[in-house]
Amino acid sequence: MLDPPLAPFLIDPEISKAETPPAAFYSDARWFRQIRDSVFGRGWHCIGLSRGLEAPRAVRPVTLLPGVLDEELVLVRGDDGTLRLLSNVCTHRGMLVVEEAGTCDALRCRYHGRRFSLDGCFRSMPKFESVEGFPTERDDLRSLPVVERNGMVFGSLDPDVEFDAWFAPVTERLAGIDLGTLTGHPERHHDYEFEANWMLYLDNYLEGFHIPFIHPELAAAIPMTEYQTELLPSGTLQIAGAHEDDATAFAPVGDHPEAGRAIAAWYFWLFPATLINVYPWGISLNMVEPLAPTRTRVRFRSLVGHPHLLGSGAAADLHQIELEDEAAVIATQRGLLGSIYQRGRYSPPEEFGVHHFHRLLLERCAIVG
Ligand code: FES
Ligand SMILES: [Fe+2]
Repeated sequence: MLDPPLAPFLIDPEISKAETPPAAFYSDARWFRQIRDSVFGRGWHCIGLSRGLEAPRAVRPVTLLPGVLDEELVLVRGDDGTLRLLSNVCTHRGMLVVEEAGTCDALRCRYHGRRFSLDGCFRSMPKFESVEGFPTERDDLRSLPVVERNGMVFGSLDPDVEFDAWFAPVTERLAGIDLGTLTGHPERHHDYEFEANWMLYLDNYLEGFHIPFIHPELAAAIPMTEYQTELLPSGTLQIAGAHEDDATAFAPVGDHPEAGRAIAAWYFWLFPATLINVYPWGISLNMVEPLAPTRTRVRFRSLVGHPHLLGSGAAADLHQIELEDEAAVIATQRGLLGSIYQRGRYSPPEEFGVHHFHRLLLERCAIVG
C-alpha cells in the first residue's frame, strides 16, 4: 500500500498566531528525505578545518555529511595556494581517487591508473587510445564551491545562497574583535550522537528560554536579562552579555553593534545546521548532522586563539551544557513519538528564533506555498 501523501502545513508568519510543526515532522522518514535533498543538498556546510591543509599540494579526502548525503569529496591545495573542493570519485568506474590525507603532485586513481591534475582536470589514462570522443570535460573531477574563513573550510554541492551573504553576519560581528590566531585543537574535538531529530536540537539551540531551567550554572555565569536574539536572513545571532566583574569578556569598541557592553559570547546559527559560538578564547564550531529521522550527530571543533582564557565565562564547561541540552532534546523526541501531542505554540518574546528556523525550513523545501 502506498504511503499517504505528506500533509503540508503552515507556520503562520505572525508568531502570536503560529503553531509549531506537527509532531510527525520530527520523525517521519519522508520529511527526513525531503529535507536532506532540498535543504542539506543545497546548503553550505563546514567540511573541516584549514589546519593541515596549508602546504601546497596538500590533499584531504572528506565525506560530506556521512550517513546522509555521503558525497565523497577531496580538498586539494594547488601550487598557487588555491584551495579546491573536487569530487573524489574517479570518472572511469567510480573508485575513490584520494584515500588518505597527505601531499601529492597529481591525483592518481590506483584502480586503473587514471590521472588528474590538482585542479581536477583529466590528464591521462592507460589503454584508452582507441576510445572515441575521449576525453571530454565529463572525465574531469567536478569542482565544487569552497571557501576558507577563520580557520574553517566551507563547501556546498549546489548552494542556494551566496557564501558571502550567508557568512556576512559573522564577518561583520567579528570585525575589530581580537580572537588571536585561530587554530584547531584536536584534543578538544568531540563528536556526540543521540536519539533525536536534528531539528529538535536546533529548536533547543535557538532559544535562551530554557537556559535558567536546564543550565543553572550557565544561567549564573551570564546576566539572563541581557540575553538577546537577532534574526538574520539565513540564520540567527544570540548575544550573551557578561557580568560586570567578568574580566575575560569581550569589550567591543567603535561602531561595533555591542560597543560599550561586556560580551560573554556570540552564538551564530547559519542555516541549515552550522553553529559558530564565539567566546573570548576562540570559536566552538558545532556541526549538526542528521543521521536518521531520530538520530543526530553533533561534531564539536575548537579553534583556539587565546588558550589562557579557556575554561572561563559562558564556555567554562561546554561538555556539561551539551549533555544537559541532549537530555532535554532526547526527552522531547520521546514525547513527540506518541500519539497524544500534535502541535504546540511559540512564546513571542522567547522563541522567535525557533519560529524563524521553522519558516526558513519550510520556505527552502517548498513544503508550503
Ligand atoms: S576507477 Fe579509476 S582508473 Fe578505473
Ligand atoms: Fe541549551
